[in-house]
Amino acid sequence: MKITVLHGQMHHGSTWHITQLFINALQNETAQISEFYFPKDGPAPCIGCFQCFLKGENYCPHAEAVQPIAASIEASDLVILESPCYVYGMSGQLKSFLDHMAYRWMSHRPHPSMSGKIGLCISTAAGLGSGRTAKDMQQNLFYWGISKLYRYSVNVSAMNWETIDPKRKARIEKQVSTMVSRIQKSAGAVKPGLKTRFLFSIMRLNQKGNTWNLTDRNHWVANGWLPAGKTDR
Ligand SMILES: Cc1cc2nc3c(=O)[nH]c(=O)nc-3n(C[C@H](O)[C@H](O)[C@H](O)COP(=O)(O)O)c2cc1C
Repeated sequence: MKITVLHGQMHHGSTWHITQLFINALQNETAQISEFYFPKDGPAPCIGCFQCFLKGENYCPHAEAVQPIAASIEASDLVILESPCYVYGMSGQLKSFLDHMAYRWMSHRPHPSMSGKIGLCISTAAGLGSGRTAKDMQQNLFYWGISKLYRYSVNVSAMNWETIDPKRKARIEKQVSTMVSRIQKSAGAVKPGLKTRFLFSIMRLNQKGNTWNLTDRNHWVANGWLPAGKTDR
């Protein structure tokens, strides 16, 4: 199994440790893991130039930093996003990378490999907000076209891994192990769900009438999702 992990922070806190529990349990002789730590491995924030949408992802001024990560995601079976909850959402640095992936949303140019992938989103908060943070990250994966989605969120009542109550840690380990079994069961047998197929068909209708962004439309034609029409180059 190929796994790409996007770490929404550089430090080894509660969220990172829980992510390691997942990685260690999923690791075997065939697993290949690529990890990216933000902001160190990520691009500068999106400047809103629209070049990725209108001309192509390689025209992004930050393509050199974005594309190796996008390629790793596209080559993976499992994509993991992890972030502590910062003011009720994911970290700014992870969000900043996800902004760069807007061109991969189903409304633009979804990558054909997405429908066979699994997504996992992990978050911790001290008191409140880990659930909505994980959901927020998961929304990105859903709109990329990944439909087999898992999320693990926990409010840890702590500022770091070392100070989490041992009983809570034991509970976390048990929950992680249950989720890993579910992930392993779904591996290799992922099919797009009803919600994804429905949204995809709406997006196809939208692309059918799209005469203003041929970069997007041509992608749909090239992937065989739309017949070539008069407007296609
Ligand atoms: C900038 C910042 C914002 C935070 N915002 C929240 C919050 O909205 N809700 C919450 O319960 N905890 C919040 N926390 C606490 C962390 O989410 C919590 O301690 C988390 O488990 C830290 O994960 P880490 O050890 O992986 O960094 C915040 C912490 C920081 C540093």
